Amino acid sequence: MDNDAPLLVRALRGEPTPRRPVWLMRQAGRYLPGYQKVRAQSSFLEMCRRPDLAAEVTLEPIERFGMDGAVVFSDILIPLEAMGITVEFDDRGPLCPDPVRDADAIAALTPFDPREGTPWILETLERIVEVLPREIPAIGFSGAPFTLAAYAVEGRITKSLNHVMGLRWRDPAAFTNLLTVLADATAPYLAAQAAAGAGALQVFDTWAGMLSREDWAAFALPSLRRVFDGVRALLGDACPPLVLYTKGTAGWIDLLPESGADAFSVDWRLPLGESKRLLGGRAIQGNLDPTCLHATPQAVRAATREMLATVEGRDGVVVNLGHGVIVGTPPENVAAFVDEVQSA
Ligand code: CP3
Repeated sequence: MDNDAPLLVRALRGEPTPRRPVWLMRQAGRYLPGYQKVRAQSSFLEMCRRPDLAAEVTLEPIERFGMDGAVVFSDILIPLEAMGITVEFDDRGPLCPDPVRDADAIAALTPFDPREGTPWILETLERIVEVLPREIPAIGFSGAPFTLAAYAVEGRITKSLNHVMGLRWRDPAAFTNLLTVLADATAPYLAAQAAAGAGALQVFDTWAGMLSREDWAAFALPSLRRVFDGVRALLGDACPPLVLYTKGTAGWIDLLPESGADAFSVDWRLPLGESKRLLGGRAIQGNLDPTCLHATPQAVRAATREMLATVEGRDGVVVNLGHGVIVGTPPENVAAFVDEVQSA
């Protein structure tokens, strides 16, 4: 046990901590005036590719609210480009104008060297690690293979994931192959972020809840296992804690540990304490409903206390939202959330 490790790292490892750490998914985003100012001058992709801008936007919420972790400003779709998939962001969100829909398109995808394909995220990490105090680690991340596949195959995401689920039923071997190729590109991408200074790594499987329990186990799980095993093999003892984020997967929460992650970030469908129990007491992260941050600071504080009261003990809990901060969230409610956790 490393008693000098940052709170966030210790909590993700399930070790005792004097208090619970807190950060928020999408903490660096459009609800903040500094972000809006930078975004008015640059496109979203430019911001991701300019380490000076990305670092500024990453640090804004830390300076303002004092979260216990700084999630690097980027997007899960950035590495798709390095694999040969065009990615655009417009007013309606991300778009892959040439979606990957068949075995030939899958065969054309290539793994990449993160230092060549995505150097800017590594430089952003180096910059923020240099200025952050040691007790506030940088959090690196990637999309999970299934969630990356959802964007790559849909082109423009649809509510029912028609195209990606169509591929799963029409050609399960090609679908499996796609997940494998994505997993093999993701492991070195995550390992490079740790080498650039990330103190924790999170894998976002935002769309996992679209699958059945059986399909999650048959398709998503082996690809996640490949990512987490791959990162551990590349980093050995230097591997930081690995976090799996899923949404809508309460129906198979018991299976999540088979992915090999160290900690599990969960949505608000189950009480936090119930999720921790179903995960066998493993380290957990979550799970305030992000819409609660549209209420008043007093209501946010009360909901946060109620959420934490569902968990027995203090160890192995990282406080977060069940999903990302919503555009239009009043910053004072984010401040109330962070303060309520840190002063508890
Ligand atoms: O603060 C942070 O959390 C760090 C940065 C971050 C972004 N996206 C910035 C972003 C992170 C960790 C992500 C992850 C991400 N991106 C996920 C997984 C988590 C989740 O939210 O489920 C997903 C599914 C994406 C894909 C994505 N990127 C979508 C669906 C959208 C459009 C929807 C939206 O909220 O705008 C984006 C764009 C995006 N990614 C923005 C930001 C700040 C908005 C871009 C803008 O300014 O126009």
